[in-house]
Amino acid sequence: MHEIGAPDADFLQADLGSNLPFDADIFDGVVSSLAFHYVREWGRLFRQLRRVLRPGGWMVFSVQHPHADFEEYEDAQNYHERERVSTTWDSFGDEVVVPAYRRPLAAMVTPALNAGFRLEQLVEPTPTEEYRRADPERYEYEATRPNFLCLRFLLPP
Ligand SMILES: C[S@@+](CC[C@H](N)C(=O)[O-])C[C@H]1O[C@@H](n2cnc3c(N)ncnc32)[C@H](O)[C@@H]1O
Repeated sequence: MHEIGAPDADFLQADLGSNLPFDADIFDGVVSSLAFHYVREWGRLFRQLRRVLRPGGWMVFSVQHPHADFEEYEDAQNYHERERVSTTWDSFGDEVVVPAYRRPLAAMVTPALNAGFRLEQLVEPTPTEEYRRADPERYEYEATRPNFLCLRFLLPP
């Protein structure tokens, strides 16, 4: 764990793929944007998040939509399986191969339910007007295809 000081917030860094170095029942909520698909084992991930959340806690996360993952990762082979996939990013200058894990929709929801969370809301967001103005071509693509998935879960009080 690495701690970074800030005037009015503490930033703690930890590996979501390991046992989290936090005490039980200390957080009110979890927010994760486009990070969980780098973690192989979601069963352990959600059990860990449940452990560190207080009763009545909440968890909101976004991921790439499982259908988009399956369509867009060139090395995806079987929708129904969890698969290690990779993509090449070139927007930082050098090309970087970034590994990730894609999985079907059921494999995103079921481990959270098994860890004791209750699914409260599921959203498949569509692009905004600002997005249309900024990138009309990509807007047309995303306006007609699933791209992201946002899920909100609750723990019992
Ligand atoms: C695509 S970026 C998303 C960044 C930001 N949350 C956003 O939405 O713009 C993925 C993030 O996941 C983090 N990440 C990847 N693997 C992780 C792991 N095992 N534990 C914790 N964070 C991880 C990366 O450090 C990176 O910040």
